Amino acid sequence: MPFNVFVTRHLTQDAEEKLNAFCNAEYWPETTPPSYEVLLEKTRSVDGLVCLLTDPVDREIIRQAKNLKVISQVAVGVDNIDLAAAADYGIPVGHTPDLLTDATADLAFALILAGARRLSEAIDYASDGHWKTWELTNLLGEDVYGATLGIIGMGRIGQAVARRARGFNMRILYHSRSRAAEAESALGVIYVSLDELLTQSDIVSLHVPLNDATQTLIGASQFELMRSHAVLVNTARGAVVDTNALVAALKTGQIGFAVLDVTDPEPLPHTHELYKLPNAIILPHIGSATRSARNQIALLAVENLIAGLEGRPLPKPVNLPKH
Ligand code: NAP
Ligand code: GLV
Repeated sequence: MPFNVFVTRHLTQDAEEKLNAFCNAEYWPETTPPSYEVLLEKTRSVDGLVCLLTDPVDREIIRQAKNLKVISQVAVGVDNIDLAAAADYGIPVGHTPDLLTDATADLAFALILAGARRLSEAIDYASDGHWKTWELTNLLGEDVYGATLGIIGMGRIGQAVARRARGFNMRILYHSRSRAAEAESALGVIYVSLDELLTQSDIVSLHVPLNDATQTLIGASQFELMRSHAVLVNTARGAVVDTNALVAALKTGQIGFAVLDVTDPEPLPHTHELYKLPNAIILPHIGSATRSARNQIALLAVENLIAGLEGRPLPKPVNLPKH
């Protein structure tokens, strides 16, 4: 009997062709996520689930899904999935690392430049009709070339950002859960404590996963340590930063600029104060959004799913907590 699979959004054409050739796949037709109730109801009866980072796959959904053999996330971050519950019920979880690393690091670097050089203000200045002449001291930003970059989370994406930063002759500090010995010798990155990194960096870029230890890792007391011209770039997860503390830090000039591809909450309501601050740029979570990266991760998610349905090891499994 063919497998039944629920897919919480349409995928790319290549990925859907591959999936449809293997199983009966039902795709959620909207561009917005299914409600929790729909996700619970659909997942209850299927053999496999393909989900996105917007879908809260919690213990109750996993508990009720008696036939579920695999959960395949189309993203590298899996903070929306209760991994302890998946481990308890013996359900492998797949994700899509590596294939989106360069796309996300490219975006992080674009955001570093956009924040340091106040691009959003300059664009508004020109398009709003304020550009009357060349001015010596107008719209001054910060140097990126030769500046000190602090990378928090020296994993795949953190290292890819460091590789880009070397081309900008940056001094690269990092803080991570474990030492990245290879990156230290290959990229010349310097391990420091979190406090040292925040105190010394001109630009701070976040690349940790969201977990209990990283939730609001950057809050009021961390902003106190940062330099008044510092640029904070977040392409990790919104909840790594305390949003209210960030608003206060930007308003009081405790830090210079924030550029966020991810926010807490997400999406950030369009009336939110952060949109009105001249020293903040908000993007709608587009870190991996290149045609190639998104097609590749969708295909990998299908490969993870098929392996799980066939009872084979997943090509890219998430490490589940041990019992
Ligand atoms: P990764 O290779 O696992 O790197 C994460 C790094 O963070 C690892 O070095 C890890 O250390 C470190 N870390 C974990 N917990 C920490 C803690 N409490 N304190 C300090 N460091 C900690 O993951 P990745 O592929 O680089 O992706 C990183 C995150 O980026 C994803 O989880 C996702 O949330 C986000 N992301 C966002 C976008 C976007 O569209 N904006 C795209 C892709 C990814 P260990 O080596 O010790 O585990
Ligand atoms: C995107 O945010 C991802 O985790 O892949």
